Amino acid sequence: MKIFIDSADLDEIKEVYSWGIIEGITTNPSLIKKANEKLRKKRVSFNDYIKEILIIAKNTPVSLEVTTTNHKNMVKEGEALYKKFNPVAKNVYIKVPIDPCFEKSCSWDMDGVKTIKELSKSGIPVNATLIFTPEQALIASKAGAKFVSPYVGREDDFIKEKRMKTKSKKKIDDKGIYSGIDLIKKCKEILKNEKTEVLAASIRNPRQLREAALAGADIVTAPYKVLKDSLKHKKTFEGMKRFVKDSVY
Ligand code: E4P
Repeated sequence: MKIFIDSADLDEIKEVYSWGIIEGITTNPSLIKKANEKLRKKRVSFNDYIKEILIIAKNTPVSLEVTTTNHKNMVKEGEALYKKFNPVAKNVYIKVPIDPCFEKSCSWDMDGVKTIKELSKSGIPVNATLIFTPEQALIASKAGAKFVSPYVGREDDFIKEKRMKTKSKKKIDDKGIYSGIDLIKKCKEILKNEKTEVLAASIRNPRQLREAALAGADIVTAPYKVLKDSLKHKKTFEGMKRFVKDSVY
């Protein structure tokens, strides 16, 4: 299993890559927006900033997400992002929402799948994102996605919200999914004969990182704080303090 960092913050990315254990980066428009705000103060060009991230990541995948919502524009945007940034370090993956249709007026909601298919067919590696059911993962895989990204934390939030609304004592599920980790397990199961890798996303704490790994995720992407917190334990700290004190070398 590989560990990625879920961040667009250059300082965080530089630091975690210096540890020597990180094998990729995922970004999303919200993370990019946050990084961009920090950047404005530093007067660095956004393109140069992304290029720097790609160089730090070297041979490891970096997901950049499209923000348009219809097939034609998503393909255009994905191709443009790939053309602009992939030559830097040959490590760009285009992140495409499985179903970008979010308006009531939307008459066609296969734009994500068609985009995944078209980009994949032209040799652009795709990370299919915002996966909340195993069948979405399967369809994304059939369309050629290299990665599918089921969202652990957001699935848990959704089930929790449902639980709070209902007074029933029954186990609450979301279309037969009982938790974010259950979603990872079922995505792995449904893709057992496919080449697509399951990338567990929306990881909010070390326990979710551990459980996603135990559920068989091929990749877990976690924010900087979760990666750091995964190393911390009171007894490790206490033990180290005593060993340093007792050292006779
Ligand atoms: C995945 O690639 C996303 O960038 C990310 O994991 C979303 O996490 P969040 O639900 O904590 O925003």
